Amino acid sequence: MTWDPGTYSKFAGERSRPFLDLVQRVQACWARPDVAKEIVDLGCGTGERTAGLTDVWPQARVTGIDSSPEMLSRARSIMAGHSAGDRLRFELGDLQEWRSARPVDVLVTNAALQWVPGHGDLLPGLVDSLAPGGALGLQVPGNHAAPTHALMRETVTDGPWADRLAPVVRGDENGVAVHTPAEYADILFRAGCEYVDAWETTYLHVLDPEGEHGDDAVLAWVSGTALRPLLAALADEGQRQAFTDAYAARLRAAYPRHPYGTPLPFRRIFAVGRRRH
Ligand SMILES: C[S@@+](CC[C@H](N)C(=O)[O-])C[C@H]1O[C@@H](n2cnc3c(N)ncnc32)[C@H](O)[C@@H]1O
Repeated sequence: MTWDPGTYSKFAGERSRPFLDLVQRVQACWARPDVAKEIVDLGCGTGERTAGLTDVWPQARVTGIDSSPEMLSRARSIMAGHSAGDRLRFELGDLQEWRSARPVDVLVTNAALQWVPGHGDLLPGLVDSLAPGGALGLQVPGNHAAPTHALMRETVTDGPWADRLAPVVRGDENGVAVHTPAEYADILFRAGCEYVDAWETTYLHVLDPEGEHGDDAVLAWVSGTALRPLLAALADEGQRQAFTDAYAARLRAAYPRHPYGTPLPFRRIFAVGRRRH
């Protein structure tokens, strides 16, 4: 899938919040923050959040890995002007294939694993990449049962694009694309972690207070992520517009705009753990 860094970055504040919460818990979990040398961010996207890790661990080398050339291009432009640019690098790579050349002290992955079917099977390998005592932190959206996704599935089945889009739409109303906190905790414990902490949070993002997107703030939000593979699968611009219009009408009814913005509840699932010595 191709990504559009500009569209994705439109809601940078809201998208940063879970990353900051995740990193705070990783710091609390990790035994030796003073000796961190290798930090890795898998599925780093546009890299702003990755770059922030150079401040959290000022002695460490920070590497962002992403499979999207478009996102990495944006990330590298950040690196060029960054004060810690000599400790920051971005590499093209698939997190499913990724192997570290050196033991990693902190590995974070934020809002990326959900794109990889069966990603729970990757976690033991990621734990193995950690130095003893090193920490892993992951966050995935747990919103597959939310109206944003339920209405997307409804729009898929309710139009001439149904056959083409049915294989593309991700997850189901039970949220099978991601695991529960208890399942992530179980995977991490079994993979050799201790001090495992797994939880979920529903953020209330109040989108677009300025009204730039009118009644379509939630459409603008999903245009940066979950809507992209569906539109990419439609070859015809007329169909893309018709699908977008049909979906937008449903979203407007489910997420009405208020004078202060458009509230979007967003459930996210987190897990952190420390590799046993
Ligand atoms: C929603 S963005 C999150 C980006 C960033 N972590 C953040 O917090 O803003 C998901 C990112 O995961 C990347 N991604 C998806 N599948 C991937 C894979 N198999 N290997 C590496 N990156 C992947 C995408 O290219 C995209 O940049």
